[in-house]
Amino acid sequence: MKRLSLTLAACLIGSAALAAEVAPKDVQFDEYGAVATSLTGTAGDAANGAVIAGTKSQGNCIACHQITALAEVPFHGEIGPSLDGAGDRWSEAELRGLMTNAKMTFDGTMMPAFYKVEGFIRPGDAYTGKAPTEALTPILSAQQIEDVVAFIATLKEE
Ligand code: HEC
Repeated sequence: MKRLSLTLAACLIGSAALAAEVAPKDVQFDEYGAVATSLTGTAGDAANGAVIAGTKSQGNCIACHQITALAEVPFHGEIGPSLDGAGDRWSEAELRGLMTNAKMTFDGTMMPAFYKVEGFIRPGDAYTGKAPTEALTPILSAQQIEDVVAFIATLKEE
């Protein structure tokens, strides 16, 4: 019980601090799928974004993309294009749109929507194959999206 109330307290403090955060359903996309406004108002941490991009349970971007800057992380997939130079190809707003919901940029893409909780055709409870019992949470938090955007923005052609 003690642990539960501590967790609750942490959540309450957390949500007060995150009051300025844009909720997944409130994200504003332009007609090309870009998102101009930061989801949190706090600058992204590129180093943390690199960790998220290479971590299976988080962004897991390398499951589908090669990223030379993460060459020490094994097993880069080839479903999507290499992200080398993506910081030259896309603006920050375009990257934020891609990370939030890539389907707004590429209609019908396989790339997952990392910051989305509504509008799935058949939402599942993680990998259990059952319908969800609680409200869905996005794959990445708003700040994790900003961190990944900051990291991808550093990937320039040499
Ligand atoms: C399930 C596979 C998959 C995952 C996981 C995935 N992507 Fe993608 N991504 C794609 C595909 C496929 C495309 C090509 C767009 C299309 O569908 O035509 C793409 C396109 C992109 C592009 C634009 C391509 C370019 O010019 O560089 C960027 C940037 C990108 N992804 C970043 C990411 C990041 C960052 C992550 C992790 C947070 C991620 N992707 C996770 C499949 C994936």
